[in-house]
Amino acid sequence: MQEIKITTTLTCYDNIAELPENVQELMQSAVEARKKAYAPYSNFRVGAALLLENGETIQGNNQENAAYPSGLCAERVAIFHAGATYPGVKIKQIAITATSDHHVNKTPIPPCGSCRQSIAEYEMRQESPIEIYFMGGEGKIMKSDSLKDLLPLIFDKSYL
Ligand code: THU
Repeated sequence: MQEIKITTTLTCYDNIAELPENVQELMQSAVEARKKAYAPYSNFRVGAALLLENGETIQGNNQENAAYPSGLCAERVAIFHAGATYPGVKIKQIAITATSDHHVNKTPIPPCGSCRQSIAEYEMRQESPIEIYFMGGEGKIMKSDSLKDLLPLIFDKSYL
């Protein structure tokens, strides 16, 4: 018998102003995307902005549906848009912001498990890490240098 410990490292920023300059812009883009979310059922808006290696920024936001599971998270709307529009172009960074319409969430809100799994596919496919910055509606921002830091024991194609 052996115990295995898995550790992860994240960077924490106090606010948007503390982020690297280009990431400040990316997070602002995510905030703009968040405001355009279609979230009439949860009243919880999420925005994502991706920076591609060709310099393009791709936005996504959550798109809900009266048949609840038919909706999609902001992160997946953004990465699938990137994959559909710019296949083969690497994603360098993702900025995410999420907040309720009823109160402003001030702690960093990480991507859900399904979005982590989807981002993992893109990271492995492009063979280079994706930096992930996540915030609530405002306040502190957390950053992981790679999706791998957010999802230990990833299920990937090597198991198929
Ligand atoms: N949501 C996202 O867009 N991203 C996540 O990572 C977690 C949840 C959306 C889905 C749904 O529209 C709303 O937030 C409430 O769960």
